[in-house]
This record gives sequence, structure tokens and C-alpha cells, in this order.
Amino acid sequence: MAIEEKNQEGLRSGNLSVSRRDFIEKAGLATVLSSFGVAFFTSCVSSDDSDPTGSTPGGGSTSNGITISGSTIAINLTIQTRLASAGGWLLIETAKTLVANISGTYVAMTSVCTHSGCFDSWSFSNNRFICNCHNSIFDSAGKVVQGPASTALQVYSTSVSGTTLTISK
Ligand code: FES
Repeated sequence: MAIEEKNQEGLRSGNLSVSRRDFIEKAGLATVLSSFGVAFFTSCVSSDDSDPTGSTPGGGSTSNGITISGSTIAINLTIQTRLASAGGWLLIETAKTLVANISGTYVAMTSVCTHSGCFDSWSFSNNRFICNCHNSIFDSAGKVVQGPASTALQVYSTSVSGTTLTISK
């Protein structure tokens, strides 16, 4: 009887101990996941809020005039006025797309650099895109002007209807 009670108590204790351990592990995991979720959410929000080049969350119409639907990007040129004049450009981070006004003609291409995949750090000067990661330079047709990249950027088709610029990837 004493042994049984001891065993039962031992099992109970063991179960209780495991339960506590499980609880602590799960609570710790929940805390980590919760923190990650908050950090991820904050990161997304701050990225959208701080991005001076007009990135937009995927899907839906947004206040920055950029709508992403599948492989199509529609840009309201009355909102994205920086594209209205020659030399204006955008990096649409969420769609990993570069777009520029080259003497009144719109060009668009992937922002995923063919050197090692940077997609979110670009400059534009003299009708050339510069990947800021390792300074590869691409012309307005996506061709490499200066390495280390050796392969052209994938170019997308563009069309304008009214005040909407559409990019088809
Ligand atoms: Fe663009 Fe290296 S990733 S130059």
C-alpha cells in the first residue's frame, strides 16, 4: 500500500513535474513566438511607413497609389507623382520591382539583383540602377554596365492607360 501510494505520488509528481516543464517550455515558446510576431509586425509596419520609395503591402489598393494583384502592379501616377517626370523612379519592395521614367517612357524590371539577390537597396542615377549591396550597375534595359553582377535583370512590360501605369511581371 505504501509502495503503491509512493508510486502513485511519484507518478503524480512525475506528471506534475513534466506538466510544469511542459508548461514552462510552452510558455517560453509562446513568449518567443509572441515576441517574434510583434517584431515581425513592427518590422512590416515600419518598413511600409519608412520606405521613401513607396513600397506597399501585397494585394489591395493602398493610399500610396500602388496596387499589387498577382503578377500585375498598377500605379496611380497622380499619387506617385515622382514618376511623372523623366528621371523619376521607384523601388516597390513588396513586389521586388524597379520602375523608372526614362525620357517619358516607363521601364520596369526585377529588383532582385542577379549578383547575390539583394532586392531592397537600390539607387538610380543617369538612367542607371545601382545595386547598393556591391555596386553593380544596370542600364534602363536591365543590362549589366558594371559588375560584379554578370547577368541582366529580368525586364517587365509596362503600359499606361489614363493615369495608371501597369507593370506586368
Ligand atoms: Fe547586387 Fe551584389 S547583390 S551587386
